[in-house]
Amino acid sequence: MKSVAGLAALVAAMSGATDAFWRMECHSRTGLARMDPLVEPDEIANHGHVIHGGSNFGMKTTYDGLISSDCTSCRVKQDKSAYWTPALNFIHENGTTVVVPQVGGMLAYYLLYGEDIKAFPAGFQMLAGDTRLRNFSGTVPDPPKSLWGKEDKTQYALGQKAIGFNCLNYKKDPEASMYRHFMPDKAYLDANCDDGIRAEIFFPSCWNGEDLDSKDHRSHLAYPDLVNDGVCPEGFKTRVPSLFFETIWNTAAFKGVPGQFVWANGDPSGYGYHGDFITGWDVDFLQEAVKTCTNPSGNIADCPIFDLQTEAEGAKCKFKMPDILKNDNCAGPADGLCGNVPVQNGPGYASLLEPGKSGKPTGGYTPPATTGAAATTSPIPQVPTLSYKAPVSAITDQYGGGISVANVNGKQSQAPEVNAAGTPSSAPAAPAPKPAVTSAPAVLEQPQGRVVSTSTYASAGTVYEVAFVEVDITVTAEATPAARHRRHFHHIHRRDREHGLLGRY
Ligand SMILES: *[C@@H]1O[C@H](CO)[C@@H](O)[C@H](O)[C@H]1NC(C)=O
Ligand SMILES: *[C@@H]1O[C@H](CO)[C@@H](O)[C@H](O)[C@H]1NC(C)=O
Repeated sequence: MKSVAGLAALVAAMSGATDAFWRMECHSRTGLARMDPLVEPDEIANHGHVIHGGSNFGMKTTYDGLISSDCTSCRVKQDKSAYWTPALNFIHENGTTVVVPQVGGMLAYYLLYGEDIKAFPAGFQMLAGDTRLRNFSGTVPDPPKSLWGKEDKTQYALGQKAIGFNCLNYKKDPEASMYRHFMPDKAYLDANCDDGIRAEIFFPSCWNGEDLDSKDHRSHLAYPDLVNDGVCPEGFKTRVPSLFFETIWNTAAFKGVPGQFVWANGDPSGYGYHGDFITGWDVDFLQEAVKTCTNPSGNIADCPIFDLQTEAEGAKCKFKMPDILKNDNCAGPADGLCGNVPVQNGPGYASLLEPGKSGKPTGGYTPPATTGAAATTSPIPQVPTLSYKAPVSAITDQYGGGISVANVNGKQSQAPEVNAAGTPSSAPAAPAPKPAVTSAPAVLEQPQGRVVSTSTYASAGTVYEVAFVEVDITVTAEATPAARHRRHFHHIHRRDREHGLLGRY
């Protein structure tokens, strides 16, 4: 007779949680181009974006056009929304620039924070982040949320805290989402982030209830006072789904190669990272999804009203490249960033870039100094690098990725948090955060073992990571006088596509 111990399930950690969200998987991009129908409609955008979602994306995309897209690059056929962010580029020492490979496209989380959530109305669009920003005005790292003061809760400060660059190393304890608000430098990435960097941006979810857009594409919305959860300010009491984008970039592919990572908007700091969204949902359908897709797994397959397509089907969905951009080369190799965007380090506000006038870079690009004296004269402000210790979070992101969804829809507005020392907060004033794990049903079956090694393999274009977890198995055999312990290895197939969430084993 055998009794197996050690397969500790994490169901306990989830019980009582009223988490509700779904994770929209957009494994492929519809394209990479200098287009931004929100900020620079009907013009060549000044910088390049990676674009996901509905196929009718173009220089002057509108809701009506988007919703009649033939296809989407995301998994749910009913979602024709457009999701886009700047592309990450690598600039070699000699100025030759290439786009960094994305791992698994992007994920758009729909998190159902707050009560009485209204579906995005027809024509709704918004922008999160500020492309010209190059500095951070708060304390680094963030104080625990329970200690946030007035200065942390201004819309300006919340917008800055809504950005994260998560250093991925699946062999180490994962970092919390939105922990580091700047892009680590090349030396830090090389030394620590073996699995790349996960760019994150949280959108505001408090709406003024009236405007589908606004002049700056931001001010019709506001952040609740804890970025994701919390209280909506006066005048912004209508809750819409909380959108959160995650995109993994394989910075590790450039390990040891001299050069610099720069976002397509000329930003090496990450403070100017931003995300754009135009809804492409039927309003009633999205409202129904808000009501019914409340499985705490976050798995879109658990939502019965969604029609899913395969990754391969999604990968076929591309937007039509406008003729005027046909000679543009945002993927590289090229001489500098597409649109000939200059690298602007800050710390001041970056200068305004005009919409691109031609489809081609105009040349004359001077590569940024990445070594030597010149490099140290233009440091990114407030960016501790190699000394900036990755946090160990026992609460959030335990299994390598994803946002913590603790207390979504719950009464308690205290999100799990990580304090300055990188350990889960034990600040006296802070109520103990409820335990929470990040999504994926498989997490619930996760044995509590130690990951002893990992390896990767690719199948059908998807990169899987196999984690070997060591757990203790107690074997009680009748012929054996005493129970003995035996080492046992579980193979856990972790899909990078799911951004590090441990999958089935
Ligand atoms: C610049 O350096 C990279 C990396 O060594 C190389 O691939 C590229 O061809 C070089 N570009 C030019 C124009 O020499
Ligand atoms: C940070 O950027 C803002 C513009 O958003 C600017 O007003 C401020 O002076 C900058 N701070 C520093 C320290 O340069």
